[in-house]
Amino acid sequence: MRHPIPVSIDSFGPDGAGSGTDDKGRRWNVRGGAPGSVVSCGGKPKSGIILEILSPAPDAVAPQCAQFAVCGGCQWQHVPLERQRAEKLASLARLLAPLGGTDHGIAGAEGYGYRNKVELSFGRLRYMAKAELDTGITREGRFLGMHAPGRFDKVVDAPRCEIASDAMNAVLARVRVDTLGTTWPLWDPVAHTGFWRHVGLREGRNGVLVLLFTTPGDDEQAAWIAAHAADWGAAGVLWFETDAKADAAIGTLRAVVHGQDHVVERLGGLDYRLSPTAFFQVNPRGAELLCATVAQAAGRGGTLLDLYCGTGVLGLACAGNFTRIVGIDVNAASVADAVVNAAANGVEATFLAGEVEKHVAAIQRASAGSGRPVVIVDPPRVGLHPDALAYVAGLDAEALVYVACRPTSLLRDGLALQAAGWRCTDRWAVDLFPQTGHVEVVTRWERP
Ligand SMILES: C[S@@+](CC[C@H](N)C(=O)[O-])C[C@H]1O[C@@H](n2cnc3c(N)ncnc32)[C@H](O)[C@@H]1O
Repeated sequence: MRHPIPVSIDSFGPDGAGSGTDDKGRRWNVRGGAPGSVVSCGGKPKSGIILEILSPAPDAVAPQCAQFAVCGGCQWQHVPLERQRAEKLASLARLLAPLGGTDHGIAGAEGYGYRNKVELSFGRLRYMAKAELDTGITREGRFLGMHAPGRFDKVVDAPRCEIASDAMNAVLARVRVDTLGTTWPLWDPVAHTGFWRHVGLREGRNGVLVLLFTTPGDDEQAAWIAAHAADWGAAGVLWFETDAKADAAIGTLRAVVHGQDHVVERLGGLDYRLSPTAFFQVNPRGAELLCATVAQAAGRGGTLLDLYCGTGVLGLACAGNFTRIVGIDVNAASVADAVVNAAANGVEATFLAGEVEKHVAAIQRASAGSGRPVVIVDPPRVGLHPDALAYVAGLDAEALVYVACRPTSLLRDGLALQAAGWRCTDRWAVDLFPQTGHVEVVTRWERP
């Protein structure tokens, strides 16, 4: 295929990339393409790369991030926030039309600086945008940033992340200078060698936690980390080790090198303790909107089942309207946090650790004897496991609240719920992920 190819972008595709047509009538999926713009593209139609913007969209805004469109994080920084939300709402209306229900619109908080969690990778090969290719910048060096889309071997060097909070960026700047300034090798994902692998940052009201991920370290490295951790302005520094080949920020905790081992967050007037590996909503102000929406969708009742409860956030947000809560999550650290969070907020609750699909009998036992429950399900992106779906679809429940971070999973599971006699009555969207094509959906279901 000859390059570059002019493409007129006319809409957003389901993954948040721009979708448009070239002069031969071929449809292109172009990362970072804004509807209304004409761009010259390289790559292939199903994964086009912008080489140059030939004419910008009429309402285009300047992205805040210097790495926008090469970094794997944001896709929509060039689109005004109001339009991002209108596009998300319209695409949900199209996708979820078969489920029915009243559409209550989309809520959202601030567009930048909202994330309380960031993960960065070390790398010795820098991803370079086309404009940088002939500038004399070298590809090899010592870098810390995000992977470019589809490039596990190259890192987009990122001194800061614009959707992360200022406090996290300040800590990141110090960690970055110190770690990149050592001579210990950075992880090479092809040779599977190196010491520094990832940095995770997690923020709460008590400050920022730094999670360092390395291959197993020696005494000199341990002494260096211990000597530097206190200088980073973090509430806590935790060191995890792994010799796994997979390029993921996971490992075994070697030491809490400095300060605290958890963060504390306050949402909707309640306090939450969060372990570093527990799932927690990444946008705390957006999560307050989500909690209020879920509480509205759940209504009032006796028992509230909080399936996929994480640290208990959604169930506890509804606690004032129910007499007891039964929650379950596969992550034992999250469940331990949920127990502490319920007690700290004076809520009577039982939390179980395990997979929903394997612990149906235990959930039934824990929730028996107080009439028809209201059920929240907030599964991971893949949606409900078939056995969990069969269990939920067969429940004799007052109402079901399905919270989804991947709308296509909700569509699949929702059609199965419909087939089992459930009816979607209401739908709300919450913009938990501004500058990206992702959106959170809350639906309420009843079985007449
Ligand atoms: C989208 S998060 C929701 C967490 C929580 N509701 C919240 O808002 O913070 C999905 C949760 O599902 C949990 N999970 C994943 N697979 C699971 C399974 N098979 N059974 C139970 N929990 C699971 C994860 O640990 C994670 O906490």
